[in-house]
Amino acid sequence: MDSQKLPLDPQFIIAPSILSADFACLGKEVQDVLAAGADWIHFDVMDNHYVPNLTIGPLVCEAIRPYAMKNGKPAMIDVHLMVEPVDRLVPDFAKAGASLISFHPEASPHVNRTLNLIRDQGCQAGLVLNPATPLDHLDHTLELLDLVLLMSVNPGFGGQSFIPSTLTKIAQVRARLDRHQEQTGHHIRLEVDGGIKVDNIADVAKAGADAFVAGSAIFGKENYAAVIDAMRTELAKSRRV
Ligand code: DX5
Ligand code: ZN
Repeated sequence: MDSQKLPLDPQFIIAPSILSADFACLGKEVQDVLAAGADWIHFDVMDNHYVPNLTIGPLVCEAIRPYAMKNGKPAMIDVHLMVEPVDRLVPDFAKAGASLISFHPEASPHVNRTLNLIRDQGCQAGLVLNPATPLDHLDHTLELLDLVLLMSVNPGFGGQSFIPSTLTKIAQVRARLDRHQEQTGHHIRLEVDGGIKVDNIADVAKAGADAFVAGSAIFGKENYAAVIDAMRTELAKSRRV
């Protein structure tokens, strides 16, 4: 099966992490945040093994799938796997309606095999790099990637502070992805995850990111639309042409 094509997205994607949502009414939270202007739903999966926290799995992905609609069409569910091993869960998440599945290369003994598995299941594929993970993991994998997810905190918990040195790393990955696109025509999104707020999102975009995960900045506030609108206003200042 072919990997799904990227839909006609706006240039900048805002992907709220439901880790900070109210789990007692998750379907409504997903509906509300998409109605408030979010593009994707970021779905953080933690296993108390790769990271010291335990969150949600395929059953919850399947449960929110009918609520993750935007303009009458399914919105992307952006599954971020912080689990080890990875492969066992990939088909389960594909069946549960995941659109894009990302994993940490340290958590898979055979990264190429896992990327192909994700694509064979009909999902888009992403690699996640922690703040201290070297960019070498992109060396022979770019042709299989739809997305690179750069962590701007160490994974495991919502509500942590953005690590400023990530900005340099974003710029390095951006340059690499631009070079790859010039050479091959293949577009890969660059998503950043952790500590993103209204007051730093423009810097993250200027460094080269085009997709932004935000958990506590959105779900921690009363008015999701106000936060997302403020983020878009900031992003408009840094639009890449
Ligand atoms: C961290 C998760 C993030 C996190 C984002 O391990 O991958 O998605 O929940 O939350 P904030 O925006 O609160 O840092
Ligand atoms: Zn995440």
